Amino acid sequence: MSEVSKPLPPGSLGLPIIGETLSFLLDRNFAYKREQEFGSIYKTNILGRKTIFMTGAEANKFILSSHMDHFSWGQGWPENFRKLLGESLFLQDGEEHRRNRKLLMPAFHGQALVNYTQTMEEIIQKYFKKWHSQENFAWFTELKQMTFEIASVLLLGTTPGEQTERLSQWFTDLTNGLFAIFPIEASWTKYGKAIAARDRLLDYLDEEIERRKSNPGKDTLGLMLQTSDENGDYLTREEIKVQALLMLFAGHETTTSMLTSLCMSLAQNPNLLAKARKEQEDLGIEGELTLEKLKQMTYLDQILKEVERLYPPVAGGFRGVVKSFTFKGYYVPKGWIVSYRITSSHQDSQIFSNPKTFDPDRFSPERAEHKKKEYSLVGFGGGPRFCLGYAFAQMEMKIFASLLLRYCQWDILPDQDLTLEPIPTLHPKSGLKVTFSSSLSV
Ligand code: HEM
Repeated sequence: MSEVSKPLPPGSLGLPIIGETLSFLLDRNFAYKREQEFGSIYKTNILGRKTIFMTGAEANKFILSSHMDHFSWGQGWPENFRKLLGESLFLQDGEEHRRNRKLLMPAFHGQALVNYTQTMEEIIQKYFKKWHSQENFAWFTELKQMTFEIASVLLLGTTPGEQTERLSQWFTDLTNGLFAIFPIEASWTKYGKAIAARDRLLDYLDEEIERRKSNPGKDTLGLMLQTSDENGDYLTREEIKVQALLMLFAGHETTTSMLTSLCMSLAQNPNLLAKARKEQEDLGIEGELTLEKLKQMTYLDQILKEVERLYPPVAGGFRGVVKSFTFKGYYVPKGWIVSYRITSSHQDSQIFSNPKTFDPDRFSPERAEHKKKEYSLVGFGGGPRFCLGYAFAQMEMKIFASLLLRYCQWDILPDQDLTLEPIPTLHPKSGLKVTFSSSLSV
């Protein structure tokens, strides 16, 4: 039987034009419900495109690694993303992507990370002191400010205060436009405001690059300005501007989501919280945190993996199909979009026992459930295009968690809606309202 004679996956293309876009954007269980009905591969129509959803470790491996040449990142992202985030690493393929990833790499590994630790710790401590002085607050919004400040100080060298707050506001406007259903470019629409915010951010970056001409600096932007490829060519100013914009975007939205889920899960599981506090105590940490000290926090690593599994900030990734293929007996034609599904892959009970339970011990060396099958834990993607900022994010989250566990108390306030909303990144509807105190402020 030839490829084309095989059937398309089951599923529904929904209403004309709009397809199933509304349910996709508003219902966190969109994928779960369809999987119950159609299985682990099904078709739908979202964001104006015919799309095949593929769930599970095998599908992840197929898309992220073994059959990568069938897919394009550039064609996978919805049009709003292309417009708002520009021709950056997210949207590049082939040689162009390989060259640029290599050029950006030094800013996220090795010595660069060592240089970032102290600033991260200082900014986090500053926020703990601020929160201590507030009676109660919604943590998600506060964490967003904090992670944005860390990203913009370390990546762009901005000074905290008015300038960073202005950039943060532009970013919020930009992010609000990413999932606009009707991308109408007018001053009063979400999408129009997002385009205006993008332009302001790009102008800001342009001026900043101009200022750096004689002294590029040690932050990520400085490293981007100074790194050349194997032919001795540097990134152009336009390239640097869009890559920096992407780093700022990728560098804080996702981390905010994971930190919010971390704080929520620890408060909801007092026994695990006590165990995590004990690990910090046993390590006898004194003075500033270093990468070596962070490495010793192995139980914290398990907790973060469990947050990644149960509350992945990004529900899935999109790719354009550039070569038709068959998978599990179904035909997927060139020109369609596929999406590998992170949230539902992490719910596979063949791999993760009691998948709905928050259980960091599933990642202990003895159990190591995620090692049963490759590509079963994919909160940061996988394969050659694994998240570039993984080490940066891990470091930030571990510094935050270590300080939180050693110096802070917090309680989730009653009477709030903790239902999880998936867009733009996973977060509780109420924003996680808490009371908070920290001995760091004394
Ligand atoms: C908790 C934090 C984070 C999570 C959960 C996360 C998640 C992800 C995921 C799922 C992908 C793959 C998307 C796909 O396959 O379609 C990805 C890629 C990427 N991430 Fe992250 N990320 C995080 C933090 C960061 C940070 C801090 C940065 C940079 C400062 C960053 C930069 C990137 C970049 C540039 C890519 C694209 C890599 C490429 O195409 O080669 N991420 N991330």
